[in-house]
Amino acid sequence: MRQVYLAALLGFAAFTTALPSPSTTHYNHRSTKDAKVLILGGGVAGVIAARTLHRKGIDDFLIVEARDELGGRMQNYTIGVPGKQYTVEVGPNWIQGTQTGNGTANPILTLARKHHVKNQYNDLDGSITTYDYNGLKDYLDILDTSIDQFTQIVADAGERVKLQQVDLGLQSAYGITGATPKNIYEAACQYYEVDWVHVFILLIIATAHPIDAQAPDQNSWIASAWNNNFTFDVDMGGFSDENNLCIDQRGFKTIIQAEAAEFLQPEQVSLNSVVTTIAYSGDGVTVTLENSTTLTADYVLCTFSLGVLQYGDIAFKPDLPSWKTEAIQSMVMATYTKIFLQFEEKFWFDTEMAVYADKERGRYPIWQSLDHVKFFPGSGLVFVTVTGDFSLRIEGMEDSDVQEEVMEVLRAMYPNITVPDPVAFHFKRWNVDPLFRGSYSNWPPSFLPGHSENLRATVDKRLWFAGEATSLKYFGFLHGAYFEGLNAGEEIAKCVEGPACTGREHFNSVVDASPYPFVSITP
Ligand SMILES: Cc1cc2nc3c(=O)[nH]c(=O)nc-3n(C[C@H](O)[C@H](O)[C@H](O)COP(=O)(O)OP(=O)(O)OC[C@H]3O[C@@H](n4cnc5c(N)ncnc54)[C@H](O)[C@@H]3O)c2cc1C
Ligand SMILES: *[C@@H]1O[C@H](CO)[C@@H](O)[C@H](O)[C@H]1NC(C)=O
Ligand SMILES: *[C@@H]1O[C@H](CO)[C@@H](O)[C@H](O)[C@H]1NC(C)=O
Ligand SMILES: *[C@@H]1O[C@H](CO)[C@@H](O)[C@H](O)[C@H]1NC(C)=O
Ligand SMILES: *[C@@H]1O[C@H](CO)[C@@H](O)[C@H](O)[C@H]1NC(C)=O
Ligand SMILES: *[C@@H]1O[C@H](CO)[C@@H](O)[C@H](O)[C@H]1NC(C)=O
Repeated sequence: MRQVYLAALLGFAAFTTALPSPSTTHYNHRSTKDAKVLILGGGVAGVIAARTLHRKGIDDFLIVEARDELGGRMQNYTIGVPGKQYTVEVGPNWIQGTQTGNGTANPILTLARKHHVKNQYNDLDGSITTYDYNGLKDYLDILDTSIDQFTQIVADAGERVKLQQVDLGLQSAYGITGATPKNIYEAACQYYEVDWVHVFILLIIATAHPIDAQAPDQNSWIASAWNNNFTFDVDMGGFSDENNLCIDQRGFKTIIQAEAAEFLQPEQVSLNSVVTTIAYSGDGVTVTLENSTTLTADYVLCTFSLGVLQYGDIAFKPDLPSWKTEAIQSMVMATYTKIFLQFEEKFWFDTEMAVYADKERGRYPIWQSLDHVKFFPGSGLVFVTVTGDFSLRIEGMEDSDVQEEVMEVLRAMYPNITVPDPVAFHFKRWNVDPLFRGSYSNWPPSFLPGHSENLRATVDKRLWFAGEATSLKYFGFLHGAYFEGLNAGEEIAKCVEGPACTGREHFNSVVDASPYPFVSITP
């Protein structure tokens, strides 16, 4: 029934032979089902869950993946004119939080080291040039203030937790701290600091811009702070405060593809297989593919992105319970877009980064030079990042129109030189991609820890969930997906093995700490 697309898999010449696992035989005898465990999605979470099962001696699993390769959101693109082509990352690019001394290493860094995937320290705080729509404009002092404000807000969040105060939006945090941006420079710096650098997963705090006060504030103060701490603050168990940019010409995805090649057998992966329906019951699960093929198993692990679950691309039979649906629909799927340009030659800043303050907040604000001695010198490459609503807006536009806007901004940044048109231009539309429907999850203030538990809880002990979005500490990050895959693999292994199977608990309803006062509504 299953057909495996071995040739397409990974682009690796051969699989290494899987090591015979010590205790495999007992759990791996064939039943009438297609597999003991179906792992839906071959991104970081899916591959690491599979590796975990394998290490526990369970090899009767099948990874079902819609694309023609493993890696999920880890995707590269070859950009450039002939003779000057480079592999750039349209998805994740940074190892966020590396390692401090011999302390705990980010597992993504560990994989990069193991598979010799080239990465380079990227100085996001100390190597910046600032611009506005009239050209070069020094407001680095405001940027420094913004960094201090963010540090203060993260510390204040810890106080809120200790005092058991309710969560609020980050926007409120800035207001309470007296740090509401009052001009475009402060707004641009807050964008850089909040939306982008530290909590890069946080998207536009549109209300921060004085002329655009209507947009919602989608970022939790407390969760933003701990998401930052658990990754970047060594005192809080974080790895380090550094970000390393992957510049490997095989693509960042190599970390997960090479890892998979070490243990995965061809018959354990079904690529080019789009899941449409997941049916579950006390007896097991049945997964239906787009071409009507059905696959049966005892357990299913769904690692599809939050955006895919929210959109309703997958039919669950029976419908998911209301506590699960509430959790899925209460987290936010954000969008983050990197727009790459190649020019004949570099004419821009010598720093690693640049911030551009436009009259409109979020308009092509963050620039990064790849034509830099640390990255791809001589490449003529630079990229600009947009997020949130601005991403959605440009996803609906023609490439040529986006390019025109970007060039308008670049020409505003460099009023005194004749800026030529780029020789290459590319960006990926993450939100309209039905396999992702956004870039990564973002925790809003109304999302509570109980919701997070419900997002990762099992349904009927058969239907499991994992992925960056189910991570309490590291939602959004590659290492979040990694740890969630690891944990799901371990828990599912207990179920395959039998008696210790507990599944993951859920709350039937996530309730307020104290009731709202009664309000009678009379017509
Ligand atoms: C633009 C961008 C920039 C990012 N930058 C960083 C960064 O610098 N550092 C960092 O740590 N993280 C970053 N991230 C986040 C990181 O990419 C994710 O946290 C991580 O890749 C998620 O892995 P996952 O396994 O949870 O999900 P995914 O990688 O989404 O895996 C799920 C898999 O399911 C498959 N799938 C979906 N629907 C179906 C279907 N119906 N049938 C079959 N298969 C299906 C998908 O093709 C995919 O392969 C970024 C993400 C994006 C998009
Ligand atoms: C449907 O897709 C699966 C997996 O990709 C494949 O094994 C199977 O042969 C396909 N079935 C048909 C009828 O095309
Ligand atoms: C990703 O990089 C690899 C290795 O350089 C290359 O073969 C492949 O074509 C790239 N993918 C895309 C979509 O450009
Ligand atoms: C880490 O390094 C320090 C000093 O080099 C050493 O004292 C300590 O034992 C090391 N810790 C671990 C866990 O290796
Ligand atoms: C551009 O040229 C004008 C006039 O010569 C000068 O005042 C200004 O500083 C220059 N701007 C930049 C960004 O170099
Ligand atoms: C984050 O870390 C800072 C500094 O270590 C600490 O003061 C603060 O309480 C932490 N915040 C949260 C929410 O954990």
